[in-house]
Amino acid sequence: MKEVSPVLNKKLIDLINLQINKELESAYIYLDFTNYFTERGLNGFAHWYKVQAEEEIEHAEKFMAFLHDENDKVRLMAIDKAECPCTDDLEVLKSGLKNEMYITELINDLYGEAEKMNDYRTLRFLDWFINEQAEEEKNANELISRYELFAKDCSAGLYQLDKELGER
Ligand code: FEO
Repeated sequence: MKEVSPVLNKKLIDLINLQINKELESAYIYLDFTNYFTERGLNGFAHWYKVQAEEEIEHAEKFMAFLHDENDKVRLMAIDKAECPCTDDLEVLKSGLKNEMYITELINDLYGEAEKMNDYRTLRFLDWFINEQAEEEKNANELISRYELFAKDCSAGLYQLDKELGER
């Protein structure tokens, strides 16, 4: 086992550990959605959120690997998951977008902190997440629009959208 000597600033390490927690919390949130849609019989939506949950775990793993690469320690914290608004499809989709916007804010805070410290290596690492969050918000917004346009009051549209989401 290599000797541990922290390279990153303490505040940055704390923020990255918090980010790991929030990525894992996001996975929990999306697993709630997966269960909701499975129980509704909408297996395509369920699949879409299952893939999303898996991506969130990958995001947490990227942050963990980064801390280890920098010779710093990962501290896993208890996951405090938000309640699922699991009674209405559209509310579920909207809360998915809300969660992504929150994650974007956290990534931006982390970026701002790294910038203050002229920590270019962390900034470069975070670039991937900046782009990823743009993609995540776009996907969540598109899903809401497609639901509202085609599926909200139309069971044939809902069937078709569910089928498409199953192909993710
Ligand atoms: Fe890892 Fe969807 O933010």
